[in-house]
Amino acid sequence: MQHLIAPSVLAADFANLQRDVEMINNSEADWFHIDVMDGLFVPNISFGMPVIKAIKKHAAKTMDVHLMIMDPDRYISDFKNVGADILTVHYEACTHLHRTLQAIKAEGMQAGVALNPHTPIAVLEDVIRDIDLVCLMSVNPGFGGQSFIENTYKKIIQLKDLIEKSGAPTKIEIDGGVNDQNAGKLLAAGADVLVAGSFVFKSENPTETIAKLKRV
Ligand code: DX5
Ligand code: ZN
Repeated sequence: MQHLIAPSVLAADFANLQRDVEMINNSEADWFHIDVMDGLFVPNISFGMPVIKAIKKHAAKTMDVHLMIMDPDRYISDFKNVGADILTVHYEACTHLHRTLQAIKAEGMQAGVALNPHTPIAVLEDVIRDIDLVCLMSVNPGFGGQSFIENTYKKIIQLKDLIEKSGAPTKIEIDGGVNDQNAGKLLAAGADVLVAGSFVFKSENPTETIAKLKRV
């Protein structure tokens, strides 16, 4: 499978959101990566339902919603209603992860689990068959523009091994500090989806930067 690129809308210009959404529509990007932060699970607040609904109105690609919120079960059907196709919750924010994943699927969405940089792959051993997407955080979640954590490569290899052994079709997504310097090595280690915020939106030509990441 050719790898997928998911530009992170967190780094877009919120005063020109429609323009930036159209840029992603017209680029080689595969997904919209949408970061929701609650100021509790992470020390930052991003945006919620009305903004996601506004993005969905113009977005012509898969909506990959990454929840950095405590107890996400409270909002699963709300995220479905505003247009999420993939809903990713944090392992660290869910007491009953298996139940949460079933609830996401029952709403007709794909279910993702994100792991913080300090969380070992092994915690997913007994639930990997129920996960469509594992999002490995390659920065501590909460902010765009941070530096990539090198330990991520080792985790990709471990996760790939777990997925292959289980026979699950789970995709591996890397989120945080992705750029043209580490993209090749991430894909070689086994990544399927690269999220990129600052590297895309702070570049001179975001469309061309997305194409560059797609061609790695
Ligand atoms: C971080 C978010 C990321 C972020 C990535 O908490 O989950 O999706 O937007 O931004 P960059 O690519 O700038 O590290
Ligand atoms: Zn994210």
